[in-house]
Amino acid sequence: MNTEILTALKSTDGCEEELASRFAGHWFGSKVVYYPSLGSTNTEAARLAGLGAAHGTLVVAGEQTNGKGRRGRTWSSPPGTGVWMTVLLRPDLLPAKASMLTLLMGMAVAGAAEEMTDRRTLIKWPNDVVMGGKKICGILTEMNAEPDYIDYVIIGTGINVNTLSFPGEIADKASSLLLQSGRKLRLADVIERTGLLFEGYYEKFLKTGDLSGLADEYNGRLAGLGKTVRVLDPKGAFEGVSRGVNEKGELVVELPDGSRTNVYAGEVSVRGVEGYI
Ligand code: BTN
Repeated sequence: MNTEILTALKSTDGCEEELASRFAGHWFGSKVVYYPSLGSTNTEAARLAGLGAAHGTLVVAGEQTNGKGRRGRTWSSPPGTGVWMTVLLRPDLLPAKASMLTLLMGMAVAGAAEEMTDRRTLIKWPNDVVMGGKKICGILTEMNAEPDYIDYVIIGTGINVNTLSFPGEIADKASSLLLQSGRKLRLADVIERTGLLFEGYYEKFLKTGDLSGLADEYNGRLAGLGKTVRVLDPKGAFEGVSRGVNEKGELVVELPDGSRTNVYAGEVSVRGVEGYI
């Protein structure tokens, strides 16, 4: 075996073992699968789910060659600069509640990022994590379910950690923890802290099956709270004041006539009236 292959194998095994040891005794990361290069961790997590992989299985890639974003977009995932990971969940929940799990991951990433950088970190509803007005993380949740039963949910999380530059089309909107804080972080530390925070939020969520115990904390990080937002609803865009999420994770928007409407994450996107946030 040539040295290049030996080195690749060694680094693969080392990553898996290191992450597994950090999650010892936890269901998040109870099984860790690491690939130096992978199309998409979401695609691989879905494949493993189909083979019966357990709740808490974590798929991590060094780079993704076909990283998937929301609304059919691609997600830039170059080698060694960010966290590209997907956790597989098998929750005993109605499918309509699955979108709330995405909000929990946003809270976990924001909490970890703020702790590790000492920079204020906000969430742009429903689940972009922003620092210094720029996006440092995106989350793509996918689900396999019957009308009243979830087989599995996969939550794919991309965190720009040590990224120094971004492709032209996202250069003005995206940033990284390093660019925002000047701190170069170990990817395994970011994965560990995010995973452990997610586990705690998930357990709190399961106590009530909704966000009633977490909405205040989420709203404490919500970008644009109390400000005018533009809701891009396929049935017609409208503006109103963001009043934060309710216990279902819907964004409550106050309309000019004082009435309130609840916006469901699956259907729409929300912008600040003056730009991205
Ligand atoms: C977004 O568009 O904001 C969501 C981006 C989600 C990217 C992550 S990276 C890990 C996981 N694997 C993927 O292919 N996508 C998600």
